[in-house]
Amino acid sequence: MSDKAIITLEGRQYEYPIIVGSEGEKAIVTQKLRSDTGYITYDDGYGNTGSCLSDITFIDGEEGILRHRGYPIEQLAKHSSFISVAYLIIYGELPTAAQREVFRERIRKEASLHTGMNSMFNSYPTRSHPMAILSSMLNSLGCYYPHMASNNREQDIEHFDEAATLLISKVRTIAAMSYRAEQGLPFVWPRKDLRYTANFLHMMFSEPYDTYEPDEDIVEALDLFLLLHADHEQNCSTSTVRMVASSGANMFASVSAGVCGLWGPLHGGANAAVVKMLMEIDRDKDDGTRFIKAAKEGKARLMGFGHRVYKNYDPRAKILGRAVERVLVNLGRKDPLLDIARRLEQEALNDDYFVSRKLYPNVDFYSGLLLRAIGIPLDMFTVMFAIGRMPGWIANWREEAMAPKQKINRPRQIYTGPAKRDIEDV
Ligand SMILES: CC(C)(COP(=O)(O)OP(=O)(O)OC[C@H]1O[C@@H](n2cnc3c(N)ncnc32)[C@H](O)[C@@H]1OP(=O)(O)O)[C@@H](O)C(=O)NCCC(=O)NCCS
Repeated sequence: MSDKAIITLEGRQYEYPIIVGSEGEKAIVTQKLRSDTGYITYDDGYGNTGSCLSDITFIDGEEGILRHRGYPIEQLAKHSSFISVAYLIIYGELPTAAQREVFRERIRKEASLHTGMNSMFNSYPTRSHPMAILSSMLNSLGCYYPHMASNNREQDIEHFDEAATLLISKVRTIAAMSYRAEQGLPFVWPRKDLRYTANFLHMMFSEPYDTYEPDEDIVEALDLFLLLHADHEQNCSTSTVRMVASSGANMFASVSAGVCGLWGPLHGGANAAVVKMLMEIDRDKDDGTRFIKAAKEGKARLMGFGHRVYKNYDPRAKILGRAVERVLVNLGRKDPLLDIARRLEQEALNDDYFVSRKLYPNVDFYSGLLLRAIGIPLDMFTVMFAIGRMPGWIANWREEAMAPKQKINRPRQIYTGPAKRDIEDV
């Protein structure tokens, strides 16, 4: 195979190098295209643009494959935990038992918030969306640790381990507090004896006068949810984190921007949108047929279906679909929305509109139902995604920050506005 791409422009040929990733993904390196030819590439939505080289996550969307640092997601879901996968994503290897204990302990120690932050929660109106609170609080968190959020690259990297565990720990505390602030409930402090996921549930649902004792099945299901969201290469929020990081901004500012990128319904907001859609279908006494028809006519979008990268079943959706069923059985409950989701899935998978466009269930199709089964309120769904995604954002920030050549990310555009004109005399 030729190791060069030849591009012909205005009758002249130009050669550009080809790079191949460790899983055989190929790219044409067009960095010099503009200086050589005056042309840029135009790729609306970046579907064909590689914005970085990364060692963290590999996705083959055609085959429905997701691997972190080489390990298939199915194996990690079966044999690992959120905290171990977080370590893997950030540091490149699964932790030994001793490394995991140190990592856990550092996370445990960082669980509480500076009391100065409490008054900040109180200044939001009740009913403020917890994603808005989460994003601002994560950025503000950096103000309490200025030595880790200096915007001096060398200094921020020097404090990386500390900042990473602090963020993984405190994002969960902030998330729980933002929910309680939204509800006008008193804050519940973390407990030292509880592990990561159980501690989050405690901070969400305990009351000062009544301790919430989470069911083991619920803790396990939520841990699986977090693990399955830990990273997903260059999606909208992670690319945002890298974009912000490329300017030299610290990790707190970068992940705070990532939360905003995640919020929208075409990204992390889809998990709540799926459940809202299923509730509407239920309320309309539709068995799904009318909704599918509306989606095909372009009047609705089947939320939780379709993906920019997966043109096959998202492997996380398979695991989550089974997990919802397991949790409901273990808890002895039924959810009519799960029946509707299964029916929609069957209809769509057998319908040429969806098949020809390669629209399959994505991670959000069943994740909202899992959160609902666990008892997480709808407004918190995307916040849960953010807690899970924190290790991925941190690992991507680190790659960007430690790149041998610091280069700010700065795409170009094709200007389509008015050509030069002059202000007329008045
Ligand atoms: C994820 C998503 C944004 C990917 O978008 P994309 O790669 O830009 O794909 P497009 O929006 O260009 O869609 C391609 C075609 O499929 C259709 N399509 C895509 N997702 C669809 C959905 N969920 N329901 C119905 N039709 C859909 C589009 O209408 C378009 O049809 P057309 O070719 O006739 O115009 C999109 O599939 C979507 O909106 N899904 C629902 C939201 C969601 O679940 N997001 C979470 C992603 S993890």
